[in-house]
Amino acid sequence: MHNFIPSLLGAFGVFTTTLAQVSTPPGASTALDRIANANKPTFADVRESVAKQYEEEGPLPTEKYFHESRFHHHYDDRFANSTLPEEQVIPHLIALVQAYLKTMRAIGAETWIMHGTLLAWWWNQKIFPWDNDLDVQVTEPTIHFLADYHNFTDHHFEIPGVDGGRTYLLEINPNHVVKTTEDWLNVIDGRWIDKSSGLFIDITAVRPDVAKRASGHPEALMCKDKHRYKESDIFPLRNSYFEGVPVRIPYNYAGVLREEYGSRSLTNTEFWG
Ligand SMILES: *[C@@H]1O[C@H](CO)[C@@H](O)[C@H](O)[C@H]1NC(C)=O
Ligand SMILES: *[C@@H]1O[C@H](CO)[C@@H](O)[C@H](O)[C@H]1NC(C)=O
Repeated sequence: MHNFIPSLLGAFGVFTTTLAQVSTPPGASTALDRIANANKPTFADVRESVAKQYEEEGPLPTEKYFHESRFHHHYDDRFANSTLPEEQVIPHLIALVQAYLKTMRAIGAETWIMHGTLLAWWWNQKIFPWDNDLDVQVTEPTIHFLADYHNFTDHHFEIPGVDGGRTYLLEINPNHVVKTTEDWLNVIDGRWIDKSSGLFIDITAVRPDVAKRASGHPEALMCKDKHRYKESDIFPLRNSYFEGVPVRIPYNYAGVLREEYGSRSLTNTEFWG
């Protein structure tokens, strides 16, 4: 392999020079360069859908769609009446996020990790041992896709060591069409819920920040939970792994984490002792 690469480059170089001598004056791009560049769109060219505009629909909701349980705010009480024993929480969260990432990939829904989950990725590509929630984001077109085609669907997974496997519910908040941050009761656009334990992942949609765009910030993005980003903070998404399965992460992950948690969060190896 070592010898092959230089010889291949050498052959390519000779070919380029020959073409250049025939078809272009000195200093101009070669025919090969032109062919290569002609078919190479920039990221902005192909990434029009992120800024796709959806109309605000419906009046400001007066009720919360997703209810946190009476016993713990990270459990859905339609599926549980108590928290899991502590040693079972992390194994359940691992299976939960693996199933989510695999399902989104399988149905072609673009998603990435954010907030504490992204910070945990930064350190270990794993969930923090003390975590009990997970956060992911999608674009506005994707939340519409999930609402229109996959709302309230069950997804069953066989899990090693878990008798009968587990079933996960994808549920989209009907108020995802209300875009304003004034809808503070419905800042969570969707949930991926473990029906065996009530544990869930919050899904929030990232939308064009129309007001900020109008005042000269063409890349401005926002979520209903008031987090704000630039398109270039998130896109193009990078490929990595989380808990051993493929995941997408924001392009400027270090900047996004510094902004949310401070620079020390990327270097400080102690947390609450
Ligand atoms: C939780 O407890 C209530 C009241 O006892 C019961 O009606 C409900 O079915 C229980 N839910 C689950 C998921 O076990
Ligand atoms: C999803 O389905 C649930 C259960 O039928 C429903 O309450 C909710 O409004 C639906 N969400 C959307 C976006 O249609």
